[in-house]
Amino acid sequence: MIKLVKVNNYEEMSLAASQMIADQVSAKPDSVLGFATGSTPIGTYAELVKMYKHGQVDFSRVVTFNLDEYCGLPRECHQSYYYFMREQLFGHVNVPDNNVHVPDGMAEDIKKECENYEQRIFDAGGIDLQLLGVGLNGHIGFNEPDEVFYNKTRLVGLTDDTIEANARFFNDKKEVPTEAISMGIGTIMAARKIVLIAGVDKAEVVKKLEEEIVSPQFPVSILHYHPNCVVIAVQGA
Ligand code: GLP
Repeated sequence: MIKLVKVNNYEEMSLAASQMIADQVSAKPDSVLGFATGSTPIGTYAELVKMYKHGQVDFSRVVTFNLDEYCGLPRECHQSYYYFMREQLFGHVNVPDNNVHVPDGMAEDIKKECENYEQRIFDAGGIDLQLLGVGLNGHIGFNEPDEVFYNKTRLVGLTDDTIEANARFFNDKKEVPTEAISMGIGTIMAARKIVLIAGVDKAEVVKKLEEEIVSPQFPVSILHYHPNCVVIAVQGA
């Protein structure tokens, strides 16, 4: 079931999401948090950094797992999701480095890396709260529209429209990796709580989500089957 919360603007969305994450960490200081990349969560991470600096949240026992990572980009590459997370959040708060997990898109054995990633989530006790953005085509993580819902973390090929949408972060569309490692739909659905944030640019996606038709061609729609999912969407979105 999705609880849809409409807010007036990006700032309100970021505040609401960061508050939910901070509340989760105060209720359970050793929470396992799932994080997302993209432009939508930047404000949420900025709020969390502010809260941390004001002593309102302590990440010292938190464990994190990111949704996805491009294949073939080293961690130091500015377009990698690892680098993004360090710039936006991890470099500014007290999450211990060893507690941070982002799939290794440079792994020699990608299949093994995917299996290990699942195992690490399991060993950590599962994800307490997963933050999600959504793609214009309804993808979550890098689970693109498809014939079926894929369960576990795996190697995925990116669709042309996703490559196009993400080209803005690269010098040239040709530099955008065509493959990534992504948590599967089952991995995401196993999180005990899900918070999806959607800016005004996702108005059409949220409208379609409100139709409550669940289909792998619109991957985000699976969230209707999650027992504890909040969607924070900017009005008009
Ligand atoms: C990327 C990420 C997703 C993210 C989506 C939307 O492709 N893999 O996790 O939710 O794009 O990004 P944005 O927030 O920039 O619109």
